[in-house]
Amino acid sequence: MILPVYLYGHPVLREKAKEVPGDYPALKELVANMFDTMYHAEGVGLAAPQIGRSIRLIVLDGKPMSEDFKECKDFRRVMINPVIEEYSDEEISLEEGCLSLPGIHEKVERAAWIRIKYSDENGVEHNETIEGFAARIVQHECEHLDGLVFIDNISAIRRQLNKGKLNNIIKGTTGCSYKTKAVGK
Ligand code: NI
Repeated sequence: MILPVYLYGHPVLREKAKEVPGDYPALKELVANMFDTMYHAEGVGLAAPQIGRSIRLIVLDGKPMSEDFKECKDFRRVMINPVIEEYSDEEISLEEGCLSLPGIHEKVERAAWIRIKYSDENGVEHNETIEGFAARIVQHECEHLDGLVFIDNISAIRRQLNKGKLNNIIKGTTGCSYKTKAVGK
């Protein structure tokens, strides 16, 4: 089932999301719905707060990026209660977007690789080192769980240049090919 994507300005995107308990109701259905929503919107990652649930759950599928970034080819993951345990010293600056901020693309510096631990939807624990653009997607989605969005990382000047677009997103007047929920509507 495709769910509406909550847009920038909605308070749920600014909350610190809660840990997902082992007995969270209908978790697999929620995960399936998040994948449906992400694929429909042609995204490569989606965090639960973006569909209005303030819990520490992200879904990822880097396949659309795999022509340019081979590390994204088989990078499909469900991450529950993810914790990034190590960031590389090396950082890379590349352009990003976000389904909650349609029409905005800005360069963001991110660690070149990360080491992360998380559980999957079957309760299996994973400890993984992820690199390249896949690591970027994970870092972007994990930020959502702490109430941050990617433009929090850009300069005040760049944010100012996007002010008109941001106001339109808040007002709900930004055209979008997928279902959205703006705070102003
Ligand atoms: Ni995002």
